[in-house]
Formats: sequence, C-alpha cells, structure tokens
Amino acid sequence: MSEETIIIANWKIALGGKESGELAEQLKKGLRRLPDGKEVIVCPSFMWLQKVSEILAKTDIKTGAQDCFWEERGAYTGNVSPLDLKESGCHYVILGHSERRKYLSETNLMVHQKARVVLNNGMTPIICVGEDFDQRQGSQKDYAIIRQLSESLEGINVATDNKIIVAYEPVWAISTSGGGIKPEPEEVSYSADVIRHILLDLYGNEIVNTCFRIIYGGSVNSSCVADYTKLPNICGVLVGSASLKIEEFVEIINNA
Ligand code: 13P
Repeated sequence: MSEETIIIANWKIALGGKESGELAEQLKKGLRRLPDGKEVIVCPSFMWLQKVSEILAKTDIKTGAQDCFWEERGAYTGNVSPLDLKESGCHYVILGHSERRKYLSETNLMVHQKARVVLNNGMTPIICVGEDFDQRQGSQKDYAIIRQLSESLEGINVATDNKIIVAYEPVWAISTSGGGIKPEPEEVSYSADVIRHILLDLYGNEIVNTCFRIIYGGSVNSSCVADYTKLPNICGVLVGSASLKIEEFVEIINNA
C-alpha cells in the first residue's frame, strides 16, 4: 500500500457558507505547503463544495464530496450528479457513511452503484464500513464489515490506475452520531486486517497494494491520531468534529 498518510476532513453539515469559506481560507494560509508524505482532503457540504474547491485550488489540499448519486443525469430530484461533482473540482467522494446508512437507509447496493460511477468518472471513492455497538457486542463485527465491503465492491472491476480508500469507521467510535468511544489501536488493526483479507479475496495482491488504502475514522484528534497512523496497516484518518477548528486540524496533520 502507499506510504503517504492521508488525512480527510469530513465537515458534515456543521458549517454554513461564511464559516466554510473562512475555514478554507485559514487552511490555505496555514498549510501553504503540506508536510512531506501527507495528503490532505477536505469534504465540505454540497452547498459549499465549489466555493471551498475554488479557495483551495492553488494549494495541495484536495476536496471531496460527502455522497453522490449513482446516475450521471436524468430525472432524479434532489440528487447530486457525479458529473457535477467532478466539474466543481472534487476528486474524492465519501460513500456509505454510517450517518447516511442510519438516517437515509443507504444500503450496500447503493454504495456499490455509487462506487462504480465515481470510479468511472475518475474520482476516488472513500468507502466507509464499520460495525455498530450491538454488532460488536454480539460478535458480529467481522460479519458486518465483510458484508458491507464485499457487497459494495463485488463485481466492480478495479484497474491499476484506480484509487479506492476504505475507511474503517466503527459507529460506536464516532463522536457525535455514535458512542464516541476511542478504540484501542489493536482493535483498529484487527479490523484493518479483516478489510485487507476481503480485498485480497476480491482483487488479489497486486491490485490491493497498488489501488487500495485503508484508513481509520472515529473520535480522532491531535492527541490520539498517531496511535492509529503508526499502525502498519492503517494509511490515514477520517476526521469529523476535530477537523472544524483550524489549530486542531493542523496539529492532527502534523502529528499523523
Ligand atoms: P468524529 O471524528 O467527530 O468522531 O467523526 C467521525 C466521522 O464520522 C468522520 O466521517
């Protein structure tokens, strides 16, 4: 897998237009040059994605969306086309976040269709998987991850120039919508191994090493980020709340 450490900010819908613009300006100033070996991606809400992409256009920071629809054009009221995301300067798309699974009944099949169209449009899907608290307590953790990931990816051809990020985000670890419990690094590492085995089963060694990166998300902040990024099978982090404050986010990037 790639040596770069990837740090992704998921702003969810926490910020309005003015605040999104201000935070993007602060990022532009504070991160004129990214530390060596770090890749930073910011995912604002749909409304402000283009604005943030424009502010960050001449920096090394890339932007991503928090979802997209699986059709490119047509009569699909209220959805967001992958073509428009691409046109607005977006390179990454988060898919299957647990908040979408919970509030919008997003299924693995939907994630599958979205992943396909995102790849076809030359963007990188960030596929979120992870068990909830009850599944963990009931020893269903591996099963939950295996099901989410294999149903999301099975049947999608991955070419050597495609990039896919898999984010292990256990629901019980998310600070706001989940339980906010920080997992032990050993548990994250265990789940990353489960994910890697599924990927190896689906795609084999060469494609997995060339195209896939596994990251961790859930209550990541500047004090704990290194506990996860130092794991040999974790390539980065997906950060929610702690990405909304410039000093804290810059500290996360430096410590990752
Ligand atoms: P927190 O970092 O606030 O726990 O959120 C994680 C998350 O949901 C990122 O996608």
